[in-house]
Amino acid sequence: MMSNWTVDNMPSQKGKTFLVTGANSGLGFGTSVALAKKGAKVIMTARDLSKGTKAMFDLKKEAPTADVELMQLDLADLNQVKAFANAFKEKYQQLDVLINNAGVMMPAKRDETKQGFEIQFGTNHLGHFVLTNELLEILEKTPDSRIVVLSSLVAKMNKADIYWDDLHFEKSYDKMASYAQSKLANMLFAAELDRRLKKQRSAITCIMAHPGYTATNLQQHMGWAGRILNFLMAQKVEMGILPTLRAATDPNAKGGEYYGPAKMGNYRGYPVLNEPNKMVDDNGANQKLWQLSEQLTNTNFVIHS
Ligand SMILES: NC(=O)c1ccc[n+]([C@@H]2O[C@H](COP(=O)([O-])OP(=O)(O)OC[C@H]3O[C@@H](n4cnc5c(N)ncnc54)[C@H](OP(=O)(O)O)[C@@H]3O)[C@@H](O)[C@H]2O)c1
Repeated sequence: MMSNWTVDNMPSQKGKTFLVTGANSGLGFGTSVALAKKGAKVIMTARDLSKGTKAMFDLKKEAPTADVELMQLDLADLNQVKAFANAFKEKYQQLDVLINNAGVMMPAKRDETKQGFEIQFGTNHLGHFVLTNELLEILEKTPDSRIVVLSSLVAKMNKADIYWDDLHFEKSYDKMASYAQSKLANMLFAAELDRRLKKQRSAITCIMAHPGYTATNLQQHMGWAGRILNFLMAQKVEMGILPTLRAATDPNAKGGEYYGPAKMGNYRGYPVLNEPNKMVDDNGANQKLWQLSEQLTNTNFVIHS
């Protein structure tokens, strides 16, 4: 029988540079701590610099010799995303692993990004879509680099769909459907990106992960329901980060794979290969989402071989 994959399975990450979005809280923070403890250089990003500074301080308490830096990144403003990527490319010479972790879930009232996209689709998917494209150049310069994309169990639940006729939920807002759409979009983007990377024979791989159900700040908009569910079902951050860490560092992890917890319908447990939503094989939907994302964000996503 295979033994459980834990942080002890992570090889030393000395010499590698990781960028983690949404690193000031929950899974992004836990992921940054675990990587730093393995000797990685970690660029933590936060949209709010004061929250980021506190997180970096907390990380250094846990890992005093950590090689970490903080940069501001608000994914809900594409001009900020581009400015961030330019600053990153000026400052650093390599990027071994980009971890698209940041996310917002189910705000009670419909909200929009700076460019007028529904906040979850705009932040979770479109912000990371543009960020990934802007950082492709430095990922291409770094041998065997990886992109890790966080999806979710909700990407396989019954409301998970791309709502082509009302992508931004302008006609009527459904907080569950709009969150599920954004996490399904993360998954379709990651699977399609990996296919396109393979087609170009790129050395970059794109791997997906989800944390099952983990108690973090993400459930803040769920009120009492979130508190009860967290108490009854959630696993701790130390467990929730393992699928991301495995996707980011396991030498045997391959492009297009999806890592998530093994137990209780993939809600809890140690990370193993999970099945993505079958829509990842729907070429029509993948191409449509890709082209739409390019159009909405005015992005030309070019992958070099
Ligand atoms: N926890 C779970 O059970 C669960 C399940 C499935 C998937 N996930 C996914 O896991 C990822 C991490 O979530 P978490 O559970 O760790 O939640 P969290 O504790 O709420 O952390 C989310 C992070 O994303 C950041 N963020 C939100 N909007 C942003 C924006 N516009 N620009 C930049 N950063 C932004 C947050 O910053 P602020 O602190 O400033 O808000 C925070 O750092 C998300 O992609 C989520 O969808 C989580």
